[in-house]
Amino acid sequence: MPIQVKPSGAALGAEIIGADLTKPLDDAAFAQISAAFYQHEVIYLRGQELSDEDHIRFSARFGELRKLKLTSQLHVDHPEIFVVSNIKKDGKHIGSYDAGIFWHTDGAYLPNPHAVSALRALQVPTVDGRVLGATNFASTSAAYDALPESMKKRLDGLQALHSVIQRLNKTLESGLKKDYNAEVKAEPEAVHPLVRVHPINGRKCLYVTEGYTVRILGLPEDESRDLIAELTAQCVKPEFTYLHNWRKNDLVMWDDCSTQHKATFDYAASTPRLMHRTTVVSKTA
Ligand code: SIN
Repeated sequence: MPIQVKPSGAALGAEIIGADLTKPLDDAAFAQISAAFYQHEVIYLRGQELSDEDHIRFSARFGELRKLKLTSQLHVDHPEIFVVSNIKKDGKHIGSYDAGIFWHTDGAYLPNPHAVSALRALQVPTVDGRVLGATNFASTSAAYDALPESMKKRLDGLQALHSVIQRLNKTLESGLKKDYNAEVKAEPEAVHPLVRVHPINGRKCLYVTEGYTVRILGLPEDESRDLIAELTAQCVKPEFTYLHNWRKNDLVMWDDCSTQHKATFDYAASTPRLMHRTTVVSKTA
């Protein structure tokens, strides 16, 4: 069956139909999926009963996979897989359970942040036959394009500081317990342009998130705070978002340069949700 790309109808997102990721893809099929990915910023493939090896093999075609320093949240046999889950084993969470509380872009606090993330649904929280825990994605390139020219000029050349400690503090403020290991805290922040130029498709995108962005360099504190608030609100306006309603065995991939995301916590801690995520490292800062 030839591969089909079906746009979601939202500002971003497309379903890829007709690909079986349990088998190696030929170059032409991969090129089609990759082109759809960089065009639509989020792609999803339903019904993929993947092994961890399949997941790693497919996502590694997009680039070098990162082994995160969040060691307690990594898959025990595959350090390329970051576990996102509310499940506890022997009283401890088996993965990151605060992964989506705030709008964020994964790895923004790293000097070479993530480029691509691929999240696979192994267990979805289901109540009365309804799947909960949807993930909302926002296109920060669409959000940038929609800005008035005067704002685009104002942002030109500005840089922002992103910190994992800010994310940690926000998580603690929300009432959840959380800490990061010393290795993560040793490399807690990075500076990036406020407007990034996408390395593959050249689109300009806002790189500023509720979760990680601490301040805009060179601006007075109140101006920096107000501009961060204005831009983060711009990014997540409903017209720039796509809500992914999960099914078991979905693989969803998003572009970490030009999107942000936030999970929905509308399910109880006792309702299990288990996701595996791989991330591709950016070649450039
Ligand atoms: C993440 O923030 O990386 C995971 C999002 C989700 O759990 O839906």
